[in-house]
Amino acid sequence: MSRRRQIYEGKAKILYEGPEPGTLVQYFKDDATAFNAQKKGVITGKGVLNNRISEYLMMRLEEIGVPTHFVRRLNMREQLVREVEMIPIEVVVRNVAAGNFAERFGVQEGQVLPRSIVEYYYKNDQLGDPMVSEEHITAFGWATTQDIDDIMALALRINDFLSGLFLGVGLRFVDFKVEFGRLWSDEDMRIILADEISPDCCRLWDLKTNEKLDKDRFRRDLGNVEEAYREVARRLGILPEGGPQDLKGPKTMQ
Ligand code: TMP
Repeated sequence: MSRRRQIYEGKAKILYEGPEPGTLVQYFKDDATAFNAQKKGVITGKGVLNNRISEYLMMRLEEIGVPTHFVRRLNMREQLVREVEMIPIEVVVRNVAAGNFAERFGVQEGQVLPRSIVEYYYKNDQLGDPMVSEEHITAFGWATTQDIDDIMALALRINDFLSGLFLGVGLRFVDFKVEFGRLWSDEDMRIILADEISPDCCRLWDLKTNEKLDKDRFRRDLGNVEEAYREVARRLGILPEGGPQDLKGPKTMQ
């Protein structure tokens, strides 16, 4: 087998050169980090589950017209994605106070926010991803005002749609982080969602019990981390009885 060229390795994913120009292969690892990689661990089976959960959510988003980098799932841990020019901003949307927001503003975790709040962070591990405003983003040239308008509109659409989708399976979509990229075709440029959406990068609470079914179980040493990821996949109807090892092609969905 010829060795693929590695383009980038992040904390939870690796990007390889794709089979054709303009594509990349995105590999989902079991590695987990928190607090800017001060805490490290492995969640067995996480990569398989996140690959599947993210595939499912990207396909649902495409159906409502949200452009994403997702092309198709290749195997248990890999998906084919479009290569884009990444915008170095982590966009966080919050519906309920939790985590860093609850701490920063002294608001009790679980308090419903008066409206969805969008925040931006500059993606830079060395600096610990500092929070930035539109002013910083345009002044540093990371994105234009028009780009930010597009990003904000997409982030809110994703939030509305996924809030409803998760509500339908008994989960509260507390908050999430996404990243966007520029896709060029000839002279045209479009901003598209270029990230995973999985329990690694969002908070999902059981609607009735408020039980956390996301990476906070790892961050806060709550135990049953893999079980929580599996429960999210099960509720979305994408987990066959036998567990992740049984995940086959798209035909097994639903
Ligand atoms: P926070 O409360 O720690 O700021 O996290 C907000 C949301 O963003 C939460 O769903 C977890 C997600 N997130 C990431 O995906 N990556 C990160 O590096 C951070 C800090 C948060």
